[in-house]
Amino acid sequence: MIKKILKWTALVVLTPIAIILLLVPFRQKLKYEAPFPEIKASKDSAVIAYGKHLVFGPAHCMDCHSTANNDSLLSLGQEPSLTGGYKFSLPLGDIYSKNITPDEETGIGKYSDAAIARILRYGVHADGRAVYEFMSFHDASDEDLTAIISYLRSAPSVKKEVPQHDLNFMGNLVQAYMIKPNGPHGEIPKSVVKDTSASYGKYLAHNIANCNGCHTARDLAGNSIGEPFAGGTPIEERLGSFTPPNITPDSTSRIFNWSQENFIARFRLGKIVEGTPMPWSAFKGMTDNELKAIYKYLQTLQPVHTEIASTFKPKEAK
Ligand code: HEC
Ligand code: HEC
Repeated sequence: MIKKILKWTALVVLTPIAIILLLVPFRQKLKYEAPFPEIKASKDSAVIAYGKHLVFGPAHCMDCHSTANNDSLLSLGQEPSLTGGYKFSLPLGDIYSKNITPDEETGIGKYSDAAIARILRYGVHADGRAVYEFMSFHDASDEDLTAIISYLRSAPSVKKEVPQHDLNFMGNLVQAYMIKPNGPHGEIPKSVVKDTSASYGKYLAHNIANCNGCHTARDLAGNSIGEPFAGGTPIEERLGSFTPPNITPDSTSRIFNWSQENFIARFRLGKIVEGTPMPWSAFKGMTDNELKAIYKYLQTLQPVHTEIASTFKPKEAK
């Protein structure tokens, strides 16, 4: 009798699991619908210049879409070319950023302005697949998306194929059941006032610079699950594991007692910790006003008391 019950229980439990696993290969290329935003690239030099500032500054596209030594190039007055191919080694497998130069074959030249805007705003690729949640521009204003896309269109075109993503078993499972397009959280502004207010700081920290994405803990699919800005999920890099620290106004925060001047000065220094994933080279190029606004916003956050842990754990020597 007991044996029979066990057998049936096993069947009832295992059958759905088997079905879930069997469906994994068929759920790798799920297609999604999303609107095409009414965004058109502009040829206006001021718009392009502002787009360039965003791309190489607060929006740090170059940090993920270039494998060059961006810091050196920028200090030599050169623009890194956004040919992609940067490899993210994640628990899900290897994911590569894309070539976003205007090349028609290997870059984004074949996509319309609206299709590029849809990728960034609604997280849906031109072919309908969900975009992995690396980019935080879902709520960026029409004006800022227009500037970014206008700059991308004006940049030199470079033909360079990037490797295909290489997901492992867990990656395929997550791809099949957890990866969904992420979209805007509310009404999207046509433009935002670019001043030094905490509200502009909030816009930058969440929708452009993605401070929130790293400094708040996330699940495997990239959704935030921790207390806002109280410290992020460890990021595996070549030299070891980096944990983005708590930056709420609490005594356990990394920026506790930093004045606005200290904060701006820290950003001007750029990268200090070797191998850190924080895009210091790009953030170094933020304006004083942008940094003032972000600083003000961080001061308005709910203080969260956390353990003070080291932000860097080197890889064990082999
Ligand atoms: C944190 C890393 C990161 C940052 C920052 C980033 N990207 Fe990406 N981007 C990626 C990755 C990874 C992919 C590939 C995603 C996928 O395949 O689903 C990607 C894909 C794209 C695509 C899709 C290209 C295609 O062929 O489908 C576009 C367009 C794009 N990024 C533009 C930008 C722009 C513009 C910026 C800055 C405003 C930016 N990205 C900033 C990592 C990043
Ligand atoms: C790609 C992930 C990532 C992003 C995006 C990011 N950070 Fe960080 N941040 C880190 C990591 C990792 C560290 C710890 C290593 C280091 O100090 O470089 C860090 C450190 C810091 C520190 C402490 C620096 C010090 O000298 O102690 C501050 C302040 C900070 N981040 C603020 C920000 C702000 C503000 C933003 C948005 C404008 C931001 N971060 C965006 C990952 C990130």
